[in-house]
Amino acid sequence: MDLEFWKQAWRDGRTAFHQGQTSPHLVRHLPLLNINENDHVLLPLCGKSLDLLYLQDLNLKVTGIEISELAIEQFQAEHPREYKQTKKGNFTVYQNEKLEIWNGDFFEFHSDITSPIHYVFDRAAMVALPFDLRKHYAEKLCEFLNLGAKILLVTFEYPQEKVPGPPFSVNKDEVELLYKDFKVQEIYRETITAISPKFVEAGIQQVQNVCYLIE
Ligand SMILES: C[S@@+](CC[C@H](N)C(=O)[O-])C[C@H]1O[C@@H](n2cnc3c(N)ncnc32)[C@H](O)[C@@H]1O
Repeated sequence: MDLEFWKQAWRDGRTAFHQGQTSPHLVRHLPLLNINENDHVLLPLCGKSLDLLYLQDLNLKVTGIEISELAIEQFQAEHPREYKQTKKGNFTVYQNEKLEIWNGDFFEFHSDITSPIHYVFDRAAMVALPFDLRKHYAEKLCEFLNLGAKILLVTFEYPQEKVPGPPFSVNKDEVELLYKDFKVQEIYRETITAISPKFVEAGIQQVQNVCYLIE
């Protein structure tokens, strides 16, 4: 799953992962993060998620990272605000008072170019990555975290051998291994039966949607 795959997905409009509303997981579980105003929240692989705006409106400093410039252009067109554009390393950064969207590769992001992160909301980021990259992703993410940082992670579970991702299946054992230095709590699990044709054609009737609090 290389970067060109995702850029092309945005060009082709293959963006069924995008939700036309704030993530229900974020709304439901946000109180568990005990947020403080002006703290810093990261949305890795953010697409044009409305969660960016929701968190900004809670008076948090919000950083999103997204490889597709088109996704960011769409976000700005759909939610017009004044954005200043700067270059930081290999990234182009679009920013207003509380929100920064970094256009570039998440794996090139590093702690020298950002302030410490207090919270991460990972919806459709880890599950967008194949197995080989997920360890690297979790290690990278941990580099930016402030002591005491908390992560809300949303995953899917289904028989991976029946159908390829994305979204990839990420089970609890893997989450516990990837975040082995953290306390990992499963805080929500639901069975989804209204699933995409790709799953149905592969003979999968249901998918588990799981949310973890990692701290
Ligand atoms: C499945 S989508 C999820 C988007 C968003 N989190 C949401 O909930 O709508 C994954 C996103 O990650 C972006 N992406 C994939 N690999 C990336 C990388 N290495 N660095 C930055 N963005 C990446 C893709 O362009 C895509 O927008």
